[in-house]
Amino acid sequence: MIHPIDELLTLRDCLRYASSRFAASDLFYGHGTDNVWDEAVQLVLRSVNLPLENNTLFLDARLVRSERQLILDRLERRIQERIPLAYLLGEAWFMGLPFHVDERVLVPRSPLAECLQNRLQPWLGDQPVLRVLDLCTGSGCIGIAASLVFEDAEVDLADISGEALAVADSNIELHDVGDRVRTVQSDVFEAVKGRYDVILSNPPYVDAVDLAAMPAEFHHEPALGLAAGDDGLDIAHRILARAAEHLNPGGLLVVEVGNSWPALEDAYPDLPFIWLEFEQGGDGVFLLRAEDLASARQISK
Ligand SMILES: C[S@@+](CC[C@H](N)C(=O)[O-])C[C@H]1O[C@@H](n2cnc3c(N)ncnc32)[C@H](O)[C@@H]1O
Repeated sequence: MIHPIDELLTLRDCLRYASSRFAASDLFYGHGTDNVWDEAVQLVLRSVNLPLENNTLFLDARLVRSERQLILDRLERRIQERIPLAYLLGEAWFMGLPFHVDERVLVPRSPLAECLQNRLQPWLGDQPVLRVLDLCTGSGCIGIAASLVFEDAEVDLADISGEALAVADSNIELHDVGDRVRTVQSDVFEAVKGRYDVILSNPPYVDAVDLAAMPAEFHHEPALGLAAGDDGLDIAHRILARAAEHLNPGGLLVVEVGNSWPALEDAYPDLPFIWLEFEQGGDGVFLLRAEDLASARQISK
């Protein structure tokens, strides 16, 4: 019997084969790509270190055997073990930037990337941004992207997980921002010091019902990055209770809570949440101003 490795000679062959195999499989997409074709392109091109854009020049170039073997091995693991492609490649993209990822951190996919690309306009106005906190940072993608958008800002990346912070440190090095960005091990705000102009957070927010129904791909992600109690709001409550103490006047708090947003609105009927809208997809991200948070502190006392 002829093995696929002997027949798949060119990049084009590999792309076609990977697409067909993905299409015939019951995979979940949503960890960086959202369809069969993009997943195949990412698997094949990034396995041979080619860029995802402007690559048609090589479509009919033949691959060497070791490259074909690597692509086939990753293809099988993606399908059989349902491992998110980002973990197989060791990289993910956030706001168009590469980040190291592995199973110690969630695969970056927050719509906060779009807010940052827009420099938090129109809400930020001309407020200077000199200190940023990325709470529950995981790979550090949100805070590091913020440091590249706000070039004068010092950025703290906080997470309770030392393992996640090791990945964040490797991303600080990757983006060469070690002079302005640092990691802090902290249980929510416990070890965070001082005030910030902007606090960004994509905390765990999956409720118990959603958690039980998640596709196999999510089981490769750290449970600490997803689960947040029965209603998914355990960490969000803690953020709201103490964010005001850590924001400068005029500062902004931007937090993703996904599907848990109706439960949050019910819990804080007096808070004037602004729910952000995204052209590139996603929802469940609120913005609050420092001045609005005082009432949340009253509620939690
Ligand atoms: C949903 S992941 C987000 C990671 C990253 N911000 C992103 O968008 O890809 C949530 C992160 O929160 C961290 N975390 C969970 N509980 C925490 C706590 N009590 N204090 C600080 N971080 C926590 C997890 O370790 C995980 O890295």
